[in-house]
Amino acid sequence: MKGVLEFAQAKVQGHKLVMVTAYDYPSAYFAEQAGVDLILVGDSVGMVVLGHDSTVPVTMDDMVRHTQAVRRGATDTFIVGDLPFWSTSSVACAVERAGRLVQEGGCHAVKLEGGRNVAVHVEAIVRAGVPVCGHIGLTPQSATALGGFRVQGKTAAQARALLEDAKSLEAAGAFMVVLECVPIPLARVITERLHIPTIGIGAGPHCDGQVLVWHDLLGMYPRQAPKFVYRYADLGTLATKGIATFAEQVRQGTFPGAEQGFVMDEEELARALNPPV
Ligand code: KIV
Repeated sequence: MKGVLEFAQAKVQGHKLVMVTAYDYPSAYFAEQAGVDLILVGDSVGMVVLGHDSTVPVTMDDMVRHTQAVRRGATDTFIVGDLPFWSTSSVACAVERAGRLVQEGGCHAVKLEGGRNVAVHVEAIVRAGVPVCGHIGLTPQSATALGGFRVQGKTAAQARALLEDAKSLEAAGAFMVVLECVPIPLARVITERLHIPTIGIGAGPHCDGQVLVWHDLLGMYPRQAPKFVYRYADLGTLATKGIATFAEQVRQGTFPGAEQGFVMDEEELARALNPPV
């Protein structure tokens, strides 16, 4: 299994890192079979699995439960667990939650959203012994404050602020930082100026790696996918077709067939229906 040292080395050697989200046993299993470098148990679980409109309702119990399932499905891949909304309400809360996600959930590192405002939290978690991945740009937990799900860092002032955020996360000890919905040239500059790897999502090709949400990548989310998504498979359509065929066969009486059933000695059945008195 690759770890934080290999991720740092990958940046130096120019090897792109691949991260994908997963939320349960099968999604983690298939991600590991596909050979990704890292799995993120994202709080996007709230939207793509639980059907909420945002990630805000996701709780620590949700994250622990899903992280445990991912760990069972991917036993040999580095797993990053997302700290849900309100985790940075205090440093003590962030440290406590990070410890819980590692100890109960079984992940190897945690991710939290924010820049300079959470540097002190990152520092404390790292000091407590848990690797931290930062997340700046569009930070979905604070999308309301950011004016919705939109590109971040387009003005000079915003771009400078994001660069400072990235540098302060690095200085606080983060081993990696996710850049979400950041213009391509700004993501390139941030990537060049950091020693730790950047993982882009809607941040162009110059990041040290890329992450996509499992359900977006595989066409499993029925709502509109963001512009930066490329759909590599259409499992949603396949699933609908498969279930429709099942329904048709049940209604026609062609499923189950003899090969899906279990036989029994007719005499045993006769004895059951006419027991000796
Ligand atoms: O929760 C999540 O899936 C994420 C990714 C979009 C980076 O934070």
